[in-house]
Amino acid sequence: MTVDVRRLTQDDLPRLRQFWKENWGAEFVVAHGVVYRPDHLEGFIALDDDEWIGGITYRFSESECEIISLDSLHEGQGIGTLLVNKAIEEARAKGCQRISLITTNDNLNALGFYQKRGFELVAVHRGAVNESRRIKPSIPLIGNDGIALRDEIELEMKLIN
Ligand SMILES: CC(C)(COP(=O)(O)OP(=O)(O)OC[C@H]1O[C@@H](n2cnc3c(N)ncnc32)[C@H](O)[C@@H]1OP(=O)(O)O)[C@@H](O)C(=O)NCCC(=O)NCCS
Repeated sequence: MTVDVRRLTQDDLPRLRQFWKENWGAEFVVAHGVVYRPDHLEGFIALDDDEWIGGITYRFSESECEIISLDSLHEGQGIGTLLVNKAIEEARAKGCQRISLITTNDNLNALGFYQKRGFELVAVHRGAVNESRRIKPSIPLIGNDGIALRDEIELEMKLIN
């Protein structure tokens, strides 16, 4: 498999909506009570020939970058790392002091993945997923590994000290 990474463009938006629908159950993502749609975001996609095998989206606000989604369809082959590094590189280039993200209490894999790559736990927003579920009912009650899906966990990496 050869992995190419390229910047997300306007032409990719219909495909990204479909990609989110397939992987996250809807054409939008909810984090800390905010609805994010592909057209509000920047990002990169990973391709094997023309096939989408991963993607990362993020947004900038003031001097911060927030990762909104990260997906790898072929795990354990470096695609997730490649995409996160692209977002970090981009955040640094824009002069951001911080890059952050929200994951959920059941996502033990993501919690390990990000911490191994230098992100630190910042906060547990108890019950935040229960709130998101009001906006996005397709969020399951039970998440990965049979864990009740309830809380948002915020992680960050400081980019400038
Ligand atoms: C979290 C996620 C993005 C990680 O993506 P990934 O493509 O598996 O990530 P990588 O392959 O870069 O890294 C995963 C592991 O594979 C290892 N790996 C990478 N390339 C490898 C290779 N060629 N051979 C063997 N192992 C390899 C990495 O070292 C890493 O292990 P480590 O974390 O112990 O260091 C992916 O699991 C995913 O899409 N999960 C579902 C969606 C999700 O939870 N997103 C995050 C929430 S915001």
